Amino acid sequence: MKMSVIGCGYLGAVHASAMAELGHDVVGIDVDPSKIALLTNCTPPFFEPGLPEILTSAMASGRLRFSTDIADAAGSDVHFIAVGTPQKPGSHAADMRFVDAAVDALLPHLAPGNLVVGKSTVPVGTAARLADVITASGTGAHLAWNPEFLREGFAVADTVSPDRLVYGVPTGEAGERATALLNEVYAVALAASTPLVVTDYATAELVKVSANAFLATKISFINAMAEIAEVSGADVTQLADAIGFDARIGRKFLNAGVGFGGGCLPKDIRAFTARAEELGRGESVAFLKEVDAINLRRRQRVVDLTVEALARPVHTSKVAILGLSFKPNSDDVRDSPALDVAVQLHGLGAGVVATDPEGIANARARHPQLNYEVSVEETLRGADAVVLVTEWPEFRTIDPIWAANLVRTPIIVDGRNALDAVAWRAAGWTYYGLGRP
Ligand code: UGA
Repeated sequence: MKMSVIGCGYLGAVHASAMAELGHDVVGIDVDPSKIALLTNCTPPFFEPGLPEILTSAMASGRLRFSTDIADAAGSDVHFIAVGTPQKPGSHAADMRFVDAAVDALLPHLAPGNLVVGKSTVPVGTAARLADVITASGTGAHLAWNPEFLREGFAVADTVSPDRLVYGVPTGEAGERATALLNEVYAVALAASTPLVVTDYATAELVKVSANAFLATKISFINAMAEIAEVSGADVTQLADAIGFDARIGRKFLNAGVGFGGGCLPKDIRAFTARAEELGRGESVAFLKEVDAINLRRRQRVVDLTVEALARPVHTSKVAILGLSFKPNSDDVRDSPALDVAVQLHGLGAGVVATDPEGIANARARHPQLNYEVSVEETLRGADAVVLVTEWPEFRTIDPIWAANLVRTPIIVDGRNALDAVAWRAAGWTYYGLGRP
């Protein structure tokens, strides 16, 4: 099938490459010429495991090309909207500028029978509004909403083998045609018995935001338990193991630590709250404000714990920060707890030196005032405290005896509860976890 993917960021670049790998004929379109130049050169503009391989292979197959010209969408049967919906400056609501601009730009290139497919995370009600815009354009095209659930770091696997597919489609014949087209797009996943939910626009939009709200709530729940554990002497990691054995609860997303970040969970819960308030149902998701507050408190907790742990005044201390990206296997520093902790400690006068396997360039672009170091060894050298804030495998496996010989004072704040506290203490470290002794 011929398809266009509009927006070639973390979502669109992976989606375009994966669709071409699955045999479709794809054009990826983005307004950023540097991004398109890199992708055309088989170089992903961001770090995502497995993407270089499928991008190279799809480009070699001749089924994938990239363009900055929206007119190149003409001739495709299906047009995916995969642009960002960041938090609006000065507000909690989602900024819909890019989605609206993408649809407007696409309209002149639509043909009868075309299907526009929204993948971006949007406030409920957006699809109905955009469907009206498309209908009013008289192009004979229709709209479906097909939310994306991929995780950064696992984006390729999540796109090729999703754990479910959701189609929000209009009623009647247009909906049947939209479903048939999407079934063709996802033929490989459907043949592998991927669960499919075909529903209306509003449900499809809400599935996405409620899934992210649930995940954020789960993380903040365990972080709230970490706060209680800290004042009662309990161990939140054992607590998570114990409650996680209950299949109704499950152990996943119960890792207490510095909290969630990234380009999705934080802004999605805020946008959901803003949208619910617009709809007159703010009280229904008022708890998400608490989820956000708990999450932000954990960043502050890591900063406070570090300052309290230091054996000398913070402004005369060197603090080594292990991690900048919002989670391992990603170079994404959007709303990253790790970067936030580094910036706050720097603001308190600490001599911050931060390292990350992939996140340094993005962190430096946002916060050039920090000192960045590629080598873990140099980051640790002479430190008065070490703060682990992103649990990359290369940090989890640091030998505490080796590290103790590099630092000035062996103090470690494990902001992800990722280290073996017993082994670190045995190597002479003063170890602090979050919600565990
Ligand atoms: C999230 C969702 O998991 C995806 O399903 C969704 O498609 C995506 O948002 C999106 O809306 O596009 P992602 O932002 O890639 O995916 O990251 P997650 O794996 O969800 O992690 C989010 C944050 O939570 C990270 O900072 C991570 O360190 C933190 N986290 C995760 C915890 O603090 N504890 C946990 O137990 C799990």
